[in-house]
Amino acid sequence: MVEFALPKNSVVGSGKTWPKPVNAKRLTEFRIYRWNPDDGRNPSIDTYYVDRDDCGPMVLDALLYIKNSIDPTLTLRRSCREGICGSCAMNIDGENTLACTKAIDDVKAPVAIYPLPHMPVVKDLVPDLTVFYAQHASIEPWLHTETPAPEKEWLQSPQDRAKLDGLYECILCACCSTSCPSYWWNGERYLGPAALLQAYRWLIDSRDESTGERLDYLEDPFRLYRCHTIMNCARVCPKGLNPAKAIAEIKNMMIDRQA
Ligand code: SF4
Ligand code: SF4
Ligand code: FES
Repeated sequence: MVEFALPKNSVVGSGKTWPKPVNAKRLTEFRIYRWNPDDGRNPSIDTYYVDRDDCGPMVLDALLYIKNSIDPTLTLRRSCREGICGSCAMNIDGENTLACTKAIDDVKAPVAIYPLPHMPVVKDLVPDLTVFYAQHASIEPWLHTETPAPEKEWLQSPQDRAKLDGLYECILCACCSTSCPSYWWNGERYLGPAALLQAYRWLIDSRDESTGERLDYLEDPFRLYRCHTIMNCARVCPKGLNPAKAIAEIKNMMIDRQA
């Protein structure tokens, strides 16, 4: 068990400042958003000190260290800890990203950590992604076919398969959608960059036979056309994807079919 000494100022704002570990050589300060729907209090920022010699190099390592050794009430989502499940997405130093792939060394201290912006919060760093997932489901992210199923599998040429590169890698972390101002203001009606990138992934799949119906669903003043090419989505995507480009391609498909 780590020993802690109280710092001089143990209260920051309305949040709590936790004791500094004794004899720490590489101390980093973390300021973390806290909100518990069950205690009736307003959200606050709690301050924690972590000796970097005691934890791994990533922000997620520090969060788990805090949860395991300092404050077990801190609530966050995580699973794979290698940038694949998308569940540890949060706002770190003002930018949406994955805590498990963000090195503490790459963030200026004190490290400010909030849940993904403009989403309802379940508790602490856990956003409510119900609407986000429903929007993904609404674009029907699976293969639509009318021709009878082949005996073995639906074939695709290497060239057609390559068209899905830069799209299929999406891990649905929601970093892009929750960084998009259009999504902030119209999140119930605008599908947002993540769902639209997925929509495009199925629109250009050579095996899919529902292109017309898929475009019909997107042909709506809000679902697609609220993208104003602000490009936050492409800037923050932790997988290096470009949802704005996918959205532009869908708009081109709309124009082509009207020609
Ligand atoms: S390019 Fe479109 S989807 Fe991306 S952040 Fe801007 S408005 Fe949102
Ligand atoms: S496009 Fe990138 S930022 Fe958006 S949900 Fe997919 S992986 Fe996350
Ligand atoms: S824990 Fe899975 S992406 Fe971070």
